[in-house]
Amino acid sequence: MDNHLLIVNNLSIHYFIRTGIVRAVEGISFSMKTKETLGIVGESGCGKTTIVMGLINMVSSPGKIVEGEIVYKGRNIAALPEQKLRQEVRWTGISMVFQGAMNCLTPVYTIKKQMLETLAIHRRMKKDEALSRIKKYISLVGLPGDVIHKYPHELSGGMKQRVVIATALFLEPDLVICDEPTTALDVVVQAQIINLLKKIKKQLGLSVIFITHDLATVAEVAENILVMYGGRMMEYGTNEQVFGKTGPAHPYTECLLKATPRLGGEIRELSFIPGIPPDLIHPEPGCCFHPRCPYVFDKCRHSPPPLFHVGPGHYAACWRVDHEGK
Ligand SMILES: Nc1ncnc2c1ncn2[C@@H]1O[C@H](COP(=O)(O)OP(=O)(O)O)[C@@H](O)[C@H]1O
Ligand code: SF4
Ligand SMILES: [Mg+2]
Repeated sequence: MDNHLLIVNNLSIHYFIRTGIVRAVEGISFSMKTKETLGIVGESGCGKTTIVMGLINMVSSPGKIVEGEIVYKGRNIAALPEQKLRQEVRWTGISMVFQGAMNCLTPVYTIKKQMLETLAIHRRMKKDEALSRIKKYISLVGLPGDVIHKYPHELSGGMKQRVVIATALFLEPDLVICDEPTTALDVVVQAQIINLLKKIKKQLGLSVIFITHDLATVAEVAENILVMYGGRMMEYGTNEQVFGKTGPAHPYTECLLKATPRLGGEIRELSFIPGIPPDLIHPEPGCCFHPRCPYVFDKCRHSPPPLFHVGPGHYAACWRVDHEGK
C-alpha cells in the first residue's frame, strides 16, 4: 500500500504585487511518508514559508497558488473549498508552528484562554474535555501545569515556544510544520526545543516539516532534505545523500555547507556565497544560481536545468549532474 502522507506535485505560488509577479515558489515537488521528518533549507527569501503556507492554503495576500497539486491522504487539498479545509485538514490533519508565533501570543489573555479559544475555533469540544486536553499537551511539552494561568509576559522565550508547540499538537494532527521554531532563541534553549521536538515526534508518531536556514539543526532532525534557492528546488534527497561523506550534488548546497560553522575537528576558513539573492520578479535566464555559482559554464547562463536524477530518491537541478548531456 502507498504509505505517502503528502505528495506535492509541481506547486507554484506567486505574489501579484504592483511592480510585477513575485515567483516565490516555482514547480516544487516532493513527497512524505508517515512519521518522516522533512527539512526545508535555504537562505532567507527563498520561498520556504510560502511553500508551507501553501500546504494549508494560507498564503498571505496578494499570493496565490497558480499551479500544482497537494495530495494529503489521497485527496487534492489544493482544490478543497476553504470551509472543508478548515474543518477537515487545517490543525486537525496538518498544523503549524508559525514563524515568530511565540511573539504573537495575545498579551492580555492567559495561556489557558488563548488555547481554549484556538480549540473552540477549530473543534467544538466541551470545556472540561478541552481543559484536560490542554493540560495533557502542556505537560507533554515539559511545562508545569500552572503555566496555563500565566500571561505571555510572565514566560521565557523557550516557555512561550513550548506553549506554541502544545497549541499545534492538541488537535492531534498527523503532520506538524515547524517554521524556524528556534530562530529567536538562545543556543541552549534552541537545543532544548530541538530535543523536545524529537521526543514528541517519536512519542506521537508524527510527521514533521522542519524549516530552518541552519544546516546543522536540520542535519540533526530530518531524514530527508529539500534545498531551496530563489523559489526553486535545488536538491532533494536523504540526509545522508545531501550532507553525507560523498557531499552534496548541487553547488548551492555545497556553498551553504561551506558557509556553516562547525565546532571541533580541523579549523577551516568559513566562506560566504558571493553576490546577491535572485530577483524573483525578473529572474535571471538559465540557472537561477548561475550569477553566484563557482562552477558556472556557458549552458548555465541560458538554459534552466531540470531536476536530474542523481541516485535513488536523490535529485539536483544542475547541468553538472546531467551525465548524459555532457
Ligand atoms: N505577502 C507578500 N507579498 C509579496 N511578496 C511576498 C509576500 N510574502 C513573501 N513574499 C516574497 O516571497 C519570497 C519568498 O518569501 P518567503 O516564503 O517568506 O521566504 P523564506 O521563508 O524562505 O524566507 C520573498 O521574495 C518575499 O519577499
Ligand atoms: S547549472 Fe551551472 S550555474 Fe547552475 S548550479 Fe549547476 S553548474 Fe552552477
Ligand atoms: Mg520564512
